[in-house]
Amino acid sequence: MAVIAARCPDVQVTVLDLNAERIAAWNSGSLPVFEPGLPEIIRQVRGRNLHFIPQAQGLAALAEADVVFISVQTPTKTSGAGAGKASDLQFVEACARLIAQQARGHTIVVEKSTMPVRAAERIQQILSANQTGGTFAVLSNPEFLAEGTAIRDLEHPDRVLIGGEDPAAVAALKSIYAAWVAPEKILTTGLWSAELSKLAANAFLAQRISSINSLSALCEQTGADVAEVAAVVGTDSRIGPKFLQASVGFGGSCFQKDLLSLIYLCEHHGLPEVAAYWQGVVDINEWQKRRFAEAVQQAAANRRVAVLGLAFKKDTNDFRESAALAVCRRLLQSGLEVVAYDPRVDGTRFAAELGNPSHFSVASTAAQALAGAGAVAVLTEWDEFRSIAWASAKLSPGAMVCDGRNVVDRTAVRQAGYGLRVIGSAAP
Ligand code: UGA
Repeated sequence: MAVIAARCPDVQVTVLDLNAERIAAWNSGSLPVFEPGLPEIIRQVRGRNLHFIPQAQGLAALAEADVVFISVQTPTKTSGAGAGKASDLQFVEACARLIAQQARGHTIVVEKSTMPVRAAERIQQILSANQTGGTFAVLSNPEFLAEGTAIRDLEHPDRVLIGGEDPAAVAALKSIYAAWVAPEKILTTGLWSAELSKLAANAFLAQRISSINSLSALCEQTGADVAEVAAVVGTDSRIGPKFLQASVGFGGSCFQKDLLSLIYLCEHHGLPEVAAYWQGVVDINEWQKRRFAEAVQQAAANRRVAVLGLAFKKDTNDFRESAALAVCRRLLQSGLEVVAYDPRVDGTRFAAELGNPSHFSVASTAAQALAGAGAVAVLTEWDEFRSIAWASAKLSPGAMVCDGRNVVDRTAVRQAGYGLRVIGSAAP
């Protein structure tokens, strides 16, 4: 929304949230998320044509809006039909009810959150059942930005996708993006294709990571190096080089949730073979995290493990579904002590997510986490982990550095006299 406000100075953008504390943070000097470039844009547009208002006080803005984006979370359901797989649409449905009750005149309602296919049908039903005189058009406009590069992705998107059956509504939304996105990059499709395309894009990206991660294990057995294999495979222009970086496993709030949603949809529509195909992507990811944690356990020269990186990727403070959560849980369950360091993640929140185990603590520098450790697990590809001074790191003698991201300086680790295991490499 900040980028829309920056690129379209004539458009007034109002962001509503039920959580007044979060709105206060968006209005403060310390934003609730860490995202490179975002503070600068917010400073430029906040108070000009971007306003953050608690929902209870923002109903007039909602009533007047020509376009309303539904951008609430669609987490995996934890109970009821489809628990553990299907997306929970309760927050979306609550938004649709609120919009139906408040909106005046004609309103374009845009699905921005990632939705299961045919979610728009449910939104349409709610809008018509609860309307108080307004009329509505529903569009799907899924988001393709990635955390850590969100501003660049929004300013220079590969494509913007608008799905809908109402040409006037599609044209109105298109005119907003046309302020900075070339017309050939604004794709229009039917509603259901737009909804499925978002799930499909994330499933394809995750599938590439699971494919290379599955081969990382074979590389370790055969002496091949997964980085070399990925580089060669990626030079085929039909395949391309991106998303072939072997890792301790993908994380984040999207890939696993969207894969599970896709799997549920396939099962629901009587396609068990298709569901099983995509389930394989999830299973390899779980196996990769488990396999890495077991390697750290076996390699530890004493009971203390240093974990470097808690975020699900670099340049974000987000640790939702991060490999670090899974790996730390396993290490702690096996009785090891974990001392973790991440330059951006709030260690207190991470510890709380783990249930505040007594043998988990957070260090304020990498060097502090490393001191006395019998094993090191590198779980996020933060740039600073590329230049760790291994010669002065005070690891326990015989300690093993386990690199789940292929970022550490291999020569420096070896010269410092420590053991090294790198994912996808037999003899690092
Ligand atoms: C992902 C998609 O990339 C976005 O296009 C999409 O809009 C977003 O989900 C969403 O649905 O909201 P995001 O999860 O923010 O974006 O970050 P990614 O860059 O996709 O990384 C996801 C995970 O895959 C991270 O844990 C990352 O470390 C891992 N990864 C990525 C690898 O292990 N290897 C790779 O080669 C690339």
